[in-house]
Amino acid sequence: MQLVHQPLLLRELLRDKTNVALVATMGNLHEGHLHLVENARKTSKTVVASIFVNPLQFAASDDFDGYPRTLERDCELLAQAGCDIAFAPAIKDMYPTPQTYLVEPDPALGSILEGKSRPGFFRGVCTVVLKLFNLVQPHQAFFGKKDYQQWRVIEKMVEQLSLPIQIHGVDTVREPSGLARSSRNAFLSQQHHQDAAYLYQLISEVAASARKACHEWAELESAARARLAQHPDFHLDYLTIRRQHDLGPPLETERLVVLVAAKLGSIRLLDNVEI
Ligand code: PAF
Repeated sequence: MQLVHQPLLLRELLRDKTNVALVATMGNLHEGHLHLVENARKTSKTVVASIFVNPLQFAASDDFDGYPRTLERDCELLAQAGCDIAFAPAIKDMYPTPQTYLVEPDPALGSILEGKSRPGFFRGVCTVVLKLFNLVQPHQAFFGKKDYQQWRVIEKMVEQLSLPIQIHGVDTVREPSGLARSSRNAFLSQQHHQDAAYLYQLISEVAASARKACHEWAELESAARARLAQHPDFHLDYLTIRRQHDLGPPLETERLVVLVAAKLGSIRLLDNVEI
């Protein structure tokens, strides 16, 4: 595997490649990221993984400087997973001048749920992902369904901007307890690490009930929210049943997903289960 920092060198390496896949990451890799690389490996001749902690998607209150940077270990893991090129640009290469042209997702999708709790987050994500798409020019790109809304926002961006890229959503990798793999799990205390699995258990039960009792979405949501409220360490942001494709309100004729975001102590956890 080659580690490349310079966009020009990356273009040079990819010039004649006909089937390139991109896995975009912010590094600090875990099994979820490696699963994306393994999926990309199955369908593509050249797999590129980008490692870039994107300042545009951090709010002023977020700890951008404190975000773990583990490039050496990330490269070892990527090489083992079958990645061909790790692209780790410097901030000055991604943003040589202040980024004043920004990709603003449709508020109907980008300003709800995560977008409501983290204003500007999807603008930062879409802008950097579009730049990565332009630099790598992949034919396919792989995103984790763990960040369900992010995957849908990017899919819509690609459709609306007519980018010739196939977007794949890849199933969430879980710990044996059911907890979704995430870089943030490392910051959970031992007790909270155990408690965190409850979130997946809860939304799996909501999904199972929704399969049996369709229409009763509002009741299922309120019952689940009330159950979570009994755990004093969880602070719920949202727990909601939505349409899979655009995250709008549920309809009987559409495929649905249960989405949850909650803080456990100071760590924000996200998860979802498709119905
Ligand atoms: O999911 C992430 O790690 C980031 O949001 C992404 C897609 C790499 C963009 O910075």
